[in-house]
Amino acid sequence: THTFTIAIDGPAGAGKGTLARRLADHYRLNLLDTGLTYRAVAHKLLELGLPLDNVSAAETAARQVDLSNLDRTVLSAHAVGEAASKVAVIPTVRRILVEKQRAFAKAPPGAVLDGRDIGTVVCPDADIKLYVTASAEVRARRRLAEIESMGGSADFATILADIERRDERDMGRASSPLKPAADAHLLDTSEMAIEAAFLAAMAIVDEVF
Ligand code: C5P
Repeated sequence: THTFTIAIDGPAGAGKGTLARRLADHYRLNLLDTGLTYRAVAHKLLELGLPLDNVSAAETAARQVDLSNLDRTVLSAHAVGEAASKVAVIPTVRRILVEKQRAFAKAPPGAVLDGRDIGTVVCPDADIKLYVTASAEVRARRRLAEIESMGGSADFATILADIERRDERDMGRASSPLKPAADAHLLDTSEMAIEAAFLAAMAIVDEVF
């Protein structure tokens, strides 16, 4: 039986997470933020005090990842995201996590998955592929606003530099680099509020759903 799959890829801070959640709600599909799986591996190594390039420990942590038990609150820390992009360069870690992500996608009634390599590697046969981007400046401004709304403070230039470094690591790695699938619909949210981005995505999905 056919399960419906929506693949959403793009750089950090482009709005894929919110978009994925809105689409999963609207079309009543399961939802997986695949970034959390890489974050879970990184978090485990940080917790054990092990270096992020310890391949065998990272593989063991990847095998232990339980998709039904990913704690977003614990894993959302900025430092964990940075560390995740370091373990994400290890091909065997990717292979282990991708296998779990594919199994998740196959479960009825289907799913929305968001990440960096969903349309290119995890679900190359997805019914819909979206590549969500925004300029690095816009993403840095949104991140700053988010930090300030939670009562924190940060420096714009530092955030922008962080974002650019993470983009470079995600787009430049040899194993499954971030890039749009050939058949992905591009959605640039630089000048778009989330509601407008959701409506644009819905129009694309409604053509085939
Ligand atoms: O999206 P999020 O910021 O949670 O992802 C953290 C890191 O995990 C990314 O910077 C990226 O290096 C890695 N990642 C990945 N492939 C995915 C999802 C995330 O390599 N499908």
